[in-house]
Amino acid sequence: MRADVYPTVLNIPPAEELAGKAAVVIDVLRATTTICTALANGADTVVPILTPEEAFQVARDNPERQFLLGGERKAVIIPGFNLGNSPLEYTEARVKGRPILFTTTNGTRAIRRAAGADRVYIASLLNAPAVARELARLEMDAAICCAGTHDQFSLEDTVCAGAILEFMAGPGQPVETNDMGLVARELFRRYDGRLADLLHLSSHGRNLVKLGLQDDLLFCAQLGTTTHLPVFTEGQVVLPHGGLSGSDGV
Ligand code: MLT
Repeated sequence: MRADVYPTVLNIPPAEELAGKAAVVIDVLRATTTICTALANGADTVVPILTPEEAFQVARDNPERQFLLGGERKAVIIPGFNLGNSPLEYTEARVKGRPILFTTTNGTRAIRRAAGADRVYIASLLNAPAVARELARLEMDAAICCAGTHDQFSLEDTVCAGAILEFMAGPGQPVETNDMGLVARELFRRYDGRLADLLHLSSHGRNLVKLGLQDDLLFCAQLGTTTHLPVFTEGQVVLPHGGLSGSDGV
């Protein structure tokens, strides 16, 4: 089994290279953590959208769907949107049963770019062990696609990729990876048990702390708190079978 790691949106392989593989999209701070949380708290679906204008248009064209609009630019809520990009905002009371149009700077671009894979999973530290178990079960080659930050490598996405590689491998089930994957795995081994420290070191983490979003960092640093496996299919992120894959919530 092979799972290669790609450090930024720009490095995500083209559709023809993703065909026949599973893709895993990671934006720990904060888009994929927020998507995992929204779906765990009962959101109907999360639709990744590239621009705020497109989100407003889709909402206007489909008033009967009663979309919530969520996302950020420069890490703050977009004027006219219902929700920002903090996972802590996506409570059951706000999102249960609602479809969400979601646009963020890096994360939603990464999801859309990975669409050529046979299956596209949305991963964060919260569900990294569950995603790893699923990849091991599928025995399918995988592309682990980090969103990065503004097309640059990010510590938080890389450590999550490393966690997935670490949890995928089992006795008699080695996982081959590229050099980026080897770095990711080493980073995870070094910071396992201290993930919040690493998120505080990262450049986007420091930016979020400056904005007063320290609680988001602590939330996003939790490892393995959910077994949900959100998938991107037919233009939207959903939980397969319309609900929980485990007995937990976030
Ligand atoms: C993104 O997609 O760029 C991020 O999730 C940014 C953020 O933390 O809001």
